[in-house]
Order: sequence, then C-alpha cells, then structure tokens
Amino acid sequence: MDKKQIEEMIDLAIGQLDYSYVPYSGFRVGAALLTKEGRIYKGCNIENAAYTPTNCAERTAFFKAVSEGERNFQAICIVGGKDGILTEYAAPCGVCRQVMMEFCNLDTFQIILATSREQYDIFTLKELLPLGFGPDNLR
Ligand code: THU
Repeated sequence: MDKKQIEEMIDLAIGQLDYSYVPYSGFRVGAALLTKEGRIYKGCNIENAAYTPTNCAERTAFFKAVSEGERNFQAICIVGGKDGILTEYAAPCGVCRQVMMEFCNLDTFQIILATSREQYDIFTLKELLPLGFGPDNLR
C-alpha cells in the first residue's frame, strides 16, 4: 500500500459517513476494505430500533465483499465520530476484530485508523487482537 492508496481509502471511508444510519447513537462510522487484488468495498454502520441487529461499518464492508466472493484482504480503513466529526480514532469493536480474524492474516492485515488524510496510524490485526481464536484453532 502506497501513500496514494492509503489516502484513497481514507477518502472513501470518510465518504461513507454520509450513509451511516445512526438515529440512536449519532455516532457515524465509515470503512473502506481493500482486497489483495486491489478492489475496495465500502461500508457504514447501520443501527436498528432493537439495538442488537446494529451492524458496524467494518462488518458491512466485510459482508458486502465476502458475499461477492472475495476472500483475500490486505487492509481496512476506519473513521468515525459523534455526528461524523473526526476528532479521534474509531478503533474496531471486538466483534469486528473477530470477523477480521476469520478472513485475514494476523501478521499482514493492516488496519488504518484515521481522522484525516494527514492523520492516520496503521496497525496489524495481531496488534489489535492478540491471542485471538480463529479458523486455525478448529483445524
Ligand atoms: N460502530 C461501528 O460501526 N464500528 C465499530 O467498530 C464500533 C462501533 C458503530 C455501532 C453503532 O452504530 C455506533 O458505532 C455506536 O456504537
């Protein structure tokens, strides 16, 4: 991933904030998921009056991609904030980290947390989910 690719993902993730459906929390999250082949799937969070059916932006992006046949992922960019104002990083929740573990390599999958094109940090999945339980445990 070069700088241009990272900036494109940040732009796409920020663009998703407009589509977040957040009548309950007002907390908008956007994600852009990059496949190893270079395709990008976007996602936003989608809340629900019954609360638990709420889907995070990251899982929206993953489920869109997986349902289109994608299985190989290199990176995800995540942005988020109350009312869509990006003041700090929106780190993925535990459930989303677990979904990443299902499809991604712990050492190489990159998680880009950003507040702008200029301000971002990159983590590996292993850094955010040490000692996780995944498909290899069931082999
Ligand atoms: N949310 C995400 O979209 N991704 C995360 O990883 C953390 C939380 C959403 C879910 C809910 O719509 C709102 O943020 C507040 O929890």
